[in-house]
Amino acid sequence: MILKQSENNLSRMGLGLAALGRPGYINLGHSEDLSHDYEESKMEQQTHHMLDLAYEKGVRYLDAAQSYGKAEIFLSSWLQSRRHTDVVVGSKWGYYYTAGWKIDAENHEIKEHTIERLNQQWPESKERLDPYLKLYQIHSATFESGVLENTDVLNRLRQIKETGYSIGLSVSGTKQADVIKAAMDVEVDGTRLFDAVQVTYNILEQSCEKVLNQAHGLGIQVIVKEGVANGRLTSRNHSAPYYSKLYELAEKHQVGIDSIALAYILSKPFISMVLSGAAVAKHLVSNLQAAHLKLNEYELDILVSLKMLPDSYWTERGALEWN
Ligand SMILES: NC(=O)c1ccc[n+]([C@@H]2O[C@H](COP(=O)([O-])OP(=O)(O)OC[C@H]3O[C@@H](n4cnc5c(N)ncnc54)[C@H](OP(=O)(O)O)[C@@H]3O)[C@@H](O)[C@H]2O)c1
Repeated sequence: MILKQSENNLSRMGLGLAALGRPGYINLGHSEDLSHDYEESKMEQQTHHMLDLAYEKGVRYLDAAQSYGKAEIFLSSWLQSRRHTDVVVGSKWGYYYTAGWKIDAENHEIKEHTIERLNQQWPESKERLDPYLKLYQIHSATFESGVLENTDVLNRLRQIKETGYSIGLSVSGTKQADVIKAAMDVEVDGTRLFDAVQVTYNILEQSCEKVLNQAHGLGIQVIVKEGVANGRLTSRNHSAPYYSKLYELAEKHQVGIDSIALAYILSKPFISMVLSGAAVAKHLVSNLQAAHLKLNEYELDILVSLKMLPDSYWTERGALEWN
């Protein structure tokens, strides 16, 4: 069991570093959050500030990736300086960062699910994040990348697992559910390989609910990313057709719309961990309020009704600018 569960929902909330480790990202208003100041030591300071706040608030799970610019390096310097003994880290391989610390880069990250890329990135992640690194994930596994049939890669991941790490995958796009279904059947030497799946699941994108229940039933831990739809389920998105219903509930509970969105996800027993993608303190504090929020059946029914068709969800996401 990678992610130790307890009664309080805070143990099911983590911090993701996608928006903290590099100047450019797709989240709404990202560049303002960084006040357009991309000086490396400033960004490292901001990352450490967010990690200290998350730890102080009770967060013990942290999510990074090789492609998040210097996220692993900023996280490593924080881990080395704070020396907390109860922090668990998950990271990802398979994408590499190509933006050169710029926002307007042609390509921000390139996917390469090859044995060569795994053998280059694994030792780097291990060196930076041990002994806190417990989960290593394929970044955005798809059928097109062929990684779920790449025996060299699967055998290497099995070897890494045998040295005491858990192995997972993250998924993206309209075919998330199909990829998860295929991944649940991936075995090496007769044993299931994957211990965890990281998936986009939120009020607008609920298409994976059935397969996530099955994965959970098999003991595969479910980690949620994009819980506030890259900012679309926050006060920033007041022109959205679903905004008024969310605003009503937020006003009733005296919390932010983001807290309602994340509380909806925490109401699902098949979910082990929900990642906050906040890059500024006030958003992290607001996100974590979800852990103390209980929505009743009537409210959950209202939120179920807001789901979009996956095609519309991912088309809208695809249009979000790197900023
Ligand atoms: N393929 C993959 O494996 C993959 C893909 C995406 C994400 N992830 C992981 O999941 C984590 C979270 O996902 P995410 O960051 O992509 O998406 P997210 O959590 O859905 O969105 C985060 C965005 O919402 C904004 N936000 C949050 N609370 C807010 C509030 N109260 N008011 C206004 N804005 C608010 C944040 O703004 P601020 O920046 O201003 O705080 C940030 O821009 C990532 O950090 C990463 O670790 C993995």
